Amino acid sequence: MASKLTEPFSIDPSFDKDRHVRFLDMMYELLPSDYESQEINHLTLAYFTLSSLDILGALDRVDKEAIVAWVLSFQAHKEEQDDLRSGQFYGFLGSRSSQFPADALKNSNCNSSHLASTYSALAILKILGYDFSLFDSGSILRSMRNLQQPDGSFMPIHIGAEADLRFVYCAAAISYLLGDWTGMDKEMAKEYILNCQSYDGGFGLCPGLESHGGATYCAIASLRLMGFMEDDLISKGVSSSIIDIPVLLDWMMQRQAADAGYQGRLNKPSDTCYAFWVGGVLKILGGSKFVNKDALRDSLLTCQSVYGGFSKFPGELPELYHSYYGFSAYSLLDEPTLNSLCVELGITKRAAFGS
Ligand code: FPP
Ligand code: ZN
Repeated sequence: MASKLTEPFSIDPSFDKDRHVRFLDMMYELLPSDYESQEINHLTLAYFTLSSLDILGALDRVDKEAIVAWVLSFQAHKEEQDDLRSGQFYGFLGSRSSQFPADALKNSNCNSSHLASTYSALAILKILGYDFSLFDSGSILRSMRNLQQPDGSFMPIHIGAEADLRFVYCAAAISYLLGDWTGMDKEMAKEYILNCQSYDGGFGLCPGLESHGGATYCAIASLRLMGFMEDDLISKGVSSSIIDIPVLLDWMMQRQAADAGYQGRLNKPSDTCYAFWVGGVLKILGGSKFVNKDALRDSLLTCQSVYGGFSKFPGELPELYHSYYGFSAYSLLDEPTLNSLCVELGITKRAAFGS
């Protein structure tokens, strides 16, 4: 997927919406075989495709009922003999290949529900207008508590994996989408997030780790979703919040590289996705005026593919992850033909609030 092209890369000097919709049509119909290694993340790939179509105003081409049924088929259900105290999480499995037959679920290691897949599933359902009162969110939320660690972080899966800010974000977004915060201890999560802010103002995935654009998004979006921070703090001139805003702003401004694209961390090349991860934090904080927008647009266009979609770096083939965050970044730049985003939730405002 990331092999080099020899032909001219960007054929259009502007955002080529029709071509992007054709790229997404292909992803919707049948994922190319390059995505086989990502089969375990099938729901997340579907979220990228459907939320992209929503940003581009092209959701009318999908069969909403069929997709809702498909997504719901990945929900893990508690068996009668299961005991929530056993530490299980009953969310959504990432794909069919991670779905075990019901009798195998009796072995507690076989339930591979994952927080990222659960967030992706709920985001898709929200995008498609599904009524959450119709389904059993109680077992998701009660069992999600099993994933929160004593330091406030979350593991993504009950059998254990790295616990960090990504999964605090997933838990916060799941709770927000379900309108119920009983699945997490917000105070503990807040303390964990605050411990992840580094001396340079950015956030690392865990306390003491290097500041990173993706981790910084997870931190700020989670604090907003949990209601611990107002929006637009920078444009309102507020400098003292639960986090140190001026030093964070300083760190974010240094992420726009010499070529006007955004890098995720110091001394790295700019990469399409960070125009959203860092640009999104600036948007939440009301600091978009600190983005050099015209130059960023031009920089992003160097990654716009002749096949539609965006790549990570100029001259590479497009893929879904960087395409989704390329469309999201363009939406933040107020591209007139795109729907605007609820940055904190990672879906359009239309999907989040109906407007
Ligand atoms: C570094 O990869 C990547 C990380 C440290 C994780 C970043 C986190 C996100 C992108 C946020 C995920 C969001 C959700 C909602 C779960 P790398 O070393 O390949 O990247 P780099 O060279 O650009 O730093
Ligand atoms: Zn990237």
